Amino acid sequence: FIKILICLVLGYCFGCISTGYIVGKANKIDIRKYGSGNAGTTNALRTLGWKAGLLTFLGDAIKAILPILLIRLVIFPDYEALNLLMLYTGLGAVLGHNFPFWLHFKGGKGIAATGGVMLAYDWRLAVAALVVFLIIVVVTRYVSLGSLVISTLLPIWIIIFYPGNLHMIIVGIIFTLSAFIKHRSNIKRLMSGTENKIGQKVKIDK
Ligand code: G3P
Repeated sequence: FIKILICLVLGYCFGCISTGYIVGKANKIDIRKYGSGNAGTTNALRTLGWKAGLLTFLGDAIKAILPILLIRLVIFPDYEALNLLMLYTGLGAVLGHNFPFWLHFKGGKGIAATGGVMLAYDWRLAVAALVVFLIIVVVTRYVSLGSLVISTLLPIWIIIFYPGNLHMIIVGIIFTLSAFIKHRSNIKRLMSGTENKIGQKVKIDK
């Protein structure tokens, strides 16, 4: 249990580094007051442009990858259930991203971070998730729909590659639930046909 706690706390600390918020501040805005109000890649893209979006995506993915690598290579390299610990570390990073204590727990939705978790696990999974994500976004222009689908893929991937490992499957399902909880407003808009499409810009008055 103590190992799981260490992983969650380590991941959380890294996850709290809100790239979207920092990029917004570098552009003299609180990104959470514009667009969808989310401190994430999509909202950085729609409020500040593609460079800010890319920077936010990279920062948020890397902050999930780093603690997982630390656990894997430095802290618990020989632990038999290392995969489970890595998953918990990724969960901590996503929770830190979604609920950063220093921003009054108002962060992002955890998708770029989940992408980082997938990459730290198995790059093939990250590539598969990216392909599915891009197809959905190109066809529908809804980033949130792509996000929800790839979040659902994570536990399915665990079921396929770690059959019988109930503990890992449950942690994977928590990733999915967390994504759905954070995308509540997106789901409502998707159902009413009013969700923002990629490419729509937001005017900012500084
Ligand atoms: O990763 C977040 C994305 O799925 C939705 O972002 O800003 O449209 O709520 P946003």
